Amino acid sequence: MKAKLIDGKAVSAALRENLKAEVAALAEDGITPGLAVVIVGEDPASKVYVRNKKKACEELGMYSEEYALQEETTQEELLALVGKLNKKPDIDGILVQLPLPKHLDEKQVIAAISPDKDVDAFHAANVGKIMIGDYKFLPCTPAGVMELIHSAGIVVEGKECVVIGRSNIVGKPMAMLLMHENGTVTICHSRTKNLAEVCRRADILVAAIGKAKFVTADMVKEGATVIDVGMNRDENGKLCGDVDFDSVCEVAGAITPVPGGVGPMTITMLMKNTINAAKR
Ligand code: GUN
Repeated sequence: MKAKLIDGKAVSAALRENLKAEVAALAEDGITPGLAVVIVGEDPASKVYVRNKKKACEELGMYSEEYALQEETTQEELLALVGKLNKKPDIDGILVQLPLPKHLDEKQVIAAISPDKDVDAFHAANVGKIMIGDYKFLPCTPAGVMELIHSAGIVVEGKECVVIGRSNIVGKPMAMLLMHENGTVTICHSRTKNLAEVCRRADILVAAIGKAKFVTADMVKEGATVIDVGMNRDENGKLCGDVDFDSVCEVAGAITPVPGGVGPMTITMLMKNTINAAKR
């Protein structure tokens, strides 16, 4: 293996030690950051995420509430809960786990969350603030990716950055954060022509596609930094990313593994956003 491994677990653990100290300092002022996590239905992956978020809160000494609603929950019921949480003084952050069951209107639910408690940074007001570089919250996964890039000592300024994927949750805000640090950013997606050729230009390649082992060694420039946001199952049911790790790590200069790369960072950034919301 040629590439240096970017250890998300280690970076995340170090950041959480700092956050723990922040929570302890807030406790002296009588403030306990509180996060409400709302999950609707029985999606197994979502349940795992929600459990991990709750556990992370407990480990840092934060307060958390979990609302596990049944699959049949109506839009009105969900909006009523969000409205209640918006007003609840011991709750600083609200996270509605996505995806929601198909009969629910995700956009309307996100719009109902108070922008001041929107620790996912999904609300249009917060997305707009990120666009103009004047933000309260950064979306957790892209913010975690930036921390990983920094931890590896990689400077974004002037670099060719290619983001594969244009989702509102990852691809689009990811591109924005790289641009804020003066990267030259290209966003690729399913209709991109000559994808491999575009990817080979990248000094920093971020894969957020949702297809197992999609990025192969021939798509990666020698020495590039490769960040894998994917969380998929391979043909044997084993957890894997969007990057074909075994081949790409022979070409890349630095690479994040799955699991143990971006994943742990996302939750850490969620904790950071909740603590910052409590401070305000
Ligand atoms: N589903 C997958 N990732 C996320 C996330 O970061 N936040 C929320 N709310 N739902 C998700």
